[in-house]
Amino acid sequence: FGYLNFLVERDRRFIIDTLIQGMARQEYRGYDSAGLAVDGDTDDETYIIKQAGKVAALKQLNFKQKIDFNKTFISHCGIAHTRWATHGQPSQINCHPHRSDPKNEFVLVHNGIITNFKEIKTLLLKKNYVFESDTDTECVAKLTKYIYDTHTGPPMTFTSLIKAVIKELEGSFSFLFRSSHFPNEIVATRRGSPLLIGVRTAHKLKVDFVDVEFGADKDFLAAKEPSDFLASVGQSVSPTLNRTQSRAFLTEDGLPQPIEFFIASDAAAIIEHTKRVLYLEDNDIAHISEGNLHIHRLRRDEGATSIRSIQTLEIELAEIMKGSFDHFMQKEIYEQPESVVNTMRGRVNFENHKVTLGGLRGFLPIIRRARRIVFIACGTSYHSCLATRPAFEELTEIPTQMDLASDFLDRKTAVFRDDVCVFVSQSGETADTILAMRYCLERGALTVGVTNTVGSSISRESHCGVHINAGPEIGVASTKAYTSQYIALIMMALQLAEDRSSMAARREEIIEGLFRLPDQIKTVLASDSSLQQLASKTLSSEKSLLIMGRGYQNATCLEGALKIKEISYMHSEGILAGELKHGPLALVDENMPVILIMTKDSLYPKVQSALQQVTARKGQPIIICNTGDANLINDYKTIQVPLAVDCLQGLINIIPLQLLSYHLAILHGVDVDFPRNLAKSVTVE
Ligand code: G6P
Repeated sequence: FGYLNFLVERDRRFIIDTLIQGMARQEYRGYDSAGLAVDGDTDDETYIIKQAGKVAALKQLNFKQKIDFNKTFISHCGIAHTRWATHGQPSQINCHPHRSDPKNEFVLVHNGIITNFKEIKTLLLKKNYVFESDTDTECVAKLTKYIYDTHTGPPMTFTSLIKAVIKELEGSFSFLFRSSHFPNEIVATRRGSPLLIGVRTAHKLKVDFVDVEFGADKDFLAAKEPSDFLASVGQSVSPTLNRTQSRAFLTEDGLPQPIEFFIASDAAAIIEHTKRVLYLEDNDIAHISEGNLHIHRLRRDEGATSIRSIQTLEIELAEIMKGSFDHFMQKEIYEQPESVVNTMRGRVNFENHKVTLGGLRGFLPIIRRARRIVFIACGTSYHSCLATRPAFEELTEIPTQMDLASDFLDRKTAVFRDDVCVFVSQSGETADTILAMRYCLERGALTVGVTNTVGSSISRESHCGVHINAGPEIGVASTKAYTSQYIALIMMALQLAEDRSSMAARREEIIEGLFRLPDQIKTVLASDSSLQQLASKTLSSEKSLLIMGRGYQNATCLEGALKIKEISYMHSEGILAGELKHGPLALVDENMPVILIMTKDSLYPKVQSALQQVTARKGQPIIICNTGDANLINDYKTIQVPLAVDCLQGLINIIPLQLLSYHLAILHGVDVDFPRNLAKSVTVE
């Protein structure tokens, strides 16, 4: 998170509070440690304040330096970061910001992984640089100083310096750089990790877009030794630009105006300051100085457009606040009766049984002709694909393939021009999913993005797609995004099947089933206290929990088990009941807790045999069944849920498992929204 004020007087307390708030809003992305950098008391001084642990710990820190909180700045640039450790454990020394040297000449924060950091570090060690941390990030700070110090020729601008730095980097990143050599300036750049810039000014913005300056088309990456590229850097200071007129934020009469910039990985950190934002694209280098924002490109890029437009955020502050709930996860579970309606709003016509997804307009004929549809996602998003697969196959009769993004890439899966590849991602920023999408784009397949984040990489780079409109999801354990993804994929299948008269009755049945969902979800939520009892009396002291089901409920089992392990740290496994006898049955005895999903669909008799197999081994399953199921409610402990259309039942059945996992986490003393070792948005491979 970065904050820069120009011609707006702010005291240091305001600046630090703004940075801390920006970090807190993005903390769900990583919460191992937190840190910030602000101006010191003299021009070339920078204060770096950082600490392992959550942002709250940093807030309470008794700042070691004697900081004058009342000192005011008419212009100032501050940067801040919350970390999800990849290289180096979450200790104070590994926290960001990282610095070039003890004088803090260059200070930066980084999201991502620099894969060639060892080579850079080896080179800098030879040049006698002394490293303080185990991170990949620190070598970038040191490299910046090295290039700056050894540069000969005309003085470097901050932009040309950072261009030279990032040309040496491999991997993924978003960076914010500040420097005592370029006071009150900031350079923000990204490759593979999200970054957006919010603009706040009392005046009306003169322009609602920023032109992009394309840099010289030189290949610096081939350079092995900095001495090779230094000569080139000198030349690139006066690059062959094809556009030099980058738009500036000037008043009507062309003068600089008071202005503030907020730079973040997520709109959630910006929304309380301004709704006017600009999304950076890969290899953009944004330079803010003297109230102006200029965007440069690393090199001339055929694909990149020359304009970054300023967009208006549509989310509201209240949507990213917990309100009266104890945790974001709990709030998001309880939001589902509304979030599923928001997913369907304006898209499902319950009168004439029509589904219209505007984002697929024009692409339906291509999708219908596809040789196959490949669904690619990670984590919970992958489970939403699995959950809707049977309906997709039934309604469209197009062969489908399901892939976890990482495995899809590992296998170098064959992809063809007549494939349609659907990328499902709540954040739209998961590195594995984005890389898989680019892999498919390169091979000429049609790419469809299904995301919850307008402006995310997946929604921008895919050919077409569907926004699930669930509203911001902050809890690390995904809940409402799952149910909204579920509906979005069902809607997609319904729309694709619109031209198939043999499916008309089935489509109507499903659409009517969609209509009933919000009330049915409310019914399940009303049983929360009994689920809380079940968690505390029966399950919380257990070490393990098996969740079994089949057919439509296969995904429910996997997703339920994922919820339980990620936030309660209890071992849990989702088991396809058809596979029970091929191995997992060995785990079952009178001591092994089992949840069996036995809602009514065509596979009900087959799940009954799984029940027999479990009880014959003295297992005492808890059964998720439909309300009043006479076969079960008298003989077993049950969790009763309303009956939905078979292909929608999974959406109802997951809700008690979400609630159970939430209660188990609370009983186990887990900080529900911040489970250990995890992050909401995984923007590294
Ligand atoms: C992380 C999160 C999961 C999420 C997965 C995919 O692992 O902790 O909750 O399901 O990423 O994220 P996406 O944003 O692509 O849906």
